[in-house]
Amino acid sequence: MFRIREAVEKDANEACAVLIRSIKEVCAKDYPNEEFVAEWLENKTPENIKLWINNPETYEVVCVDEDDKVVGFSAVTLSGEILLNYLLPEALYKNSGKAMLAALEKRVIQNGVENIRVASSITAKMFYERNGFIKNGEPLVIHGITTDFPLIKRVNT
Ligand SMILES: CC(C)(COP(=O)(O)OP(=O)(O)OC[C@H]1O[C@@H](n2cnc3c(N)ncnc32)[C@H](O)[C@@H]1OP(=O)(O)O)[C@@H](O)C(=O)NCCC(=O)NCCS
Repeated sequence: MFRIREAVEKDANEACAVLIRSIKEVCAKDYPNEEFVAEWLENKTPENIKLWINNPETYEVVCVDEDDKVVGFSAVTLSGEILLNYLLPEALYKNSGKAMLAALEKRVIQNGVENIRVASSITAKMFYERNGFIKNGEPLVIHGITTDFPLIKRVNT
């Protein structure tokens, strides 16, 4: 079983490991370009994650297992922009992604925000579409790879 809770500073090391393993072991299959992956990993450090967790303008959650081990990490700005949303490879497809997204949506709804947005990876695009997101602009082309698909979902009706 897993549960979702707000992230705290002491989660930073395990959350960092989640981001790094997810990018290397899950996302890299969709991004066959070493430079792209290296740039993606560049700011994924425990120090940066502590800064994000302590930033009053953003909200972070972790998904933890029965032993409180961090298996997922997500972040959103209080204005509704999803910044991060990652699970360990072994935690995929068990509804934890959906549960983290629901926690982010709940927090931004409390803040009176009408839409939640994301610049989605190739890897996560179908996940967001399954969860009610629609196209909100054109993707970017970075190192020849079409990525960062702008998606949006109305959350406050
Ligand atoms: C985005 C992410 C956190 C979502 O988590 P997830 O585990 O995929 O999502 P869910 O909680 O929806 O998992 C359950 C779903 O997976 C589906 N599923 C099961 N096996 C699957 C498989 N092999 N492939 C794809 N989907 C599968 C289930 O049918 C269920 O779908 P439903 O919505 O129709 O019920 C996760 O995919 C991830 O870490 N991706 C890589 C990192 C990334 O790119 N992050 C986004 C940055 S913008």
